[in-house]
Amino acid sequence: MYNKKTKRIYFDYAATTPVDKTVIDAMLPYFSQKFGNAMSIHFFGKEAEEAVDKARETLADFLHCKSDEIIFTSGATESNNLAIKGVVKSYWANPPAGGWKPHIITTAFEHHCVLETCQSLEKDGLAEVTYIKPDREGIINPLDIKKAIRKNTILVSIMYVNNEIGTLQPIEEIGKILKSYPVKSDDHGASKLKAKILFHTDATQAVNYFDCDVEKLDVDLLSLSGHKIYGPKGAGALYIKKGTPIRRITDGGDQEFSLRAGTQNVPGIVGLGKAIELVAQNAKRETKKIEKLRNYLIKKVLQEIPNSKLNGSLKFRTPANANFTFKDVEGESLLIALDMEGIACSTGSACSTGSLEPSHVLLALGMKAEEAHGSLRITLGKDTAKQEIDIFITKLKNIIKHLRKISGKVLEEYYGLK
Ligand SMILES: Cc1ncc(COP(=O)(O)O)c(C=O)c1O
Repeated sequence: MYNKKTKRIYFDYAATTPVDKTVIDAMLPYFSQKFGNAMSIHFFGKEAEEAVDKARETLADFLHCKSDEIIFTSGATESNNLAIKGVVKSYWANPPAGGWKPHIITTAFEHHCVLETCQSLEKDGLAEVTYIKPDREGIINPLDIKKAIRKNTILVSIMYVNNEIGTLQPIEEIGKILKSYPVKSDDHGASKLKAKILFHTDATQAVNYFDCDVEKLDVDLLSLSGHKIYGPKGAGALYIKKGTPIRRITDGGDQEFSLRAGTQNVPGIVGLGKAIELVAQNAKRETKKIEKLRNYLIKKVLQEIPNSKLNGSLKFRTPANANFTFKDVEGESLLIALDMEGIACSTGSACSTGSLEPSHVLLALGMKAEEAHGSLRITLGKDTAKQEIDIFITKLKNIIKHLRKISGKVLEEYYGLK
């Protein structure tokens, strides 16, 4: 919905979403009226615990799992840390005789919270990691995962939808490969810890638009976050399949089946439950509307702006994402110019904003560093209107013309190039 008063346009729904009014209403009583600690045994505690249990059931229905397979966290960063570090920690709690270092397979274009978790395990000497590259369209080939499997592979972690270019990964196919992968017990020495290679997916950017049935996907662990789905910030969840060898990574109380110590964020959990309920009710209708607008946006940009390119597959892509590069235009300058015109976009993930490093996602696609500097991510949401896209196109055309003129002048004046 275009706000005529502020004249601001929000095209950064992958960074975060506004909290839905219904979600706020559901959360409000749990701040001051029903403020109990969900672990307390008195009435106030029980009231809070019931609300947490209800949210847990809503998530379990949505993911097609049991409610005691849902762990509430502070968001997807924590869920991803718990999934990966928790599995590695469980391995080291009971390492096999003879000893071998566990191996993880992930991708080169995961969110930083997965990449840095893996890198820190490598640095601490606790795991070996293989980073699989996507193809030029931003899709991981399941056969590349199969080829990367070693005797010591204990975990594969692949994101469901990439947060920068929005590409959809073949999670179900990878799940099938891993499920049927013939793991012989002697492949794993004396370890009784695992019978199969565990499969984790970061579904943070998928929940709004794609089926997250954990049985269909054949995943053992799945992360999600409230603030990407019109729920609150600071609330997320991790699905952990029963029997998965995992240890907690924070010590303290026995909350969340002793897998996540710390007082539960009851209003946040209630809000997350309500947000999931709304996704389950409305997703199909909204997906169609958003996809139509996104396709219109892509068509217009490619038609009206010379030397513009869409990054990532159009076919295997979340309906809300468009990511472009514009020849001879630097991404940060474009972002600032758009912001000055009241249009909020992004160059990549919100977490990497402020960094002048080229996008690791675009580099993983095989783009050159100078190209990977110049991307623009536009992500739409349920309030996006066609009028906003039309305003955006007009402004973008002028800004790009201007920036290209400046960059031409700089080359001419300072370097004698044209
Ligand atoms: C794919 C993906 N994973 C993880 C995160 C981190 O989520 P949170 O902000 O809930 O920690 C994000 C947020 O941008 C994301 O897009």
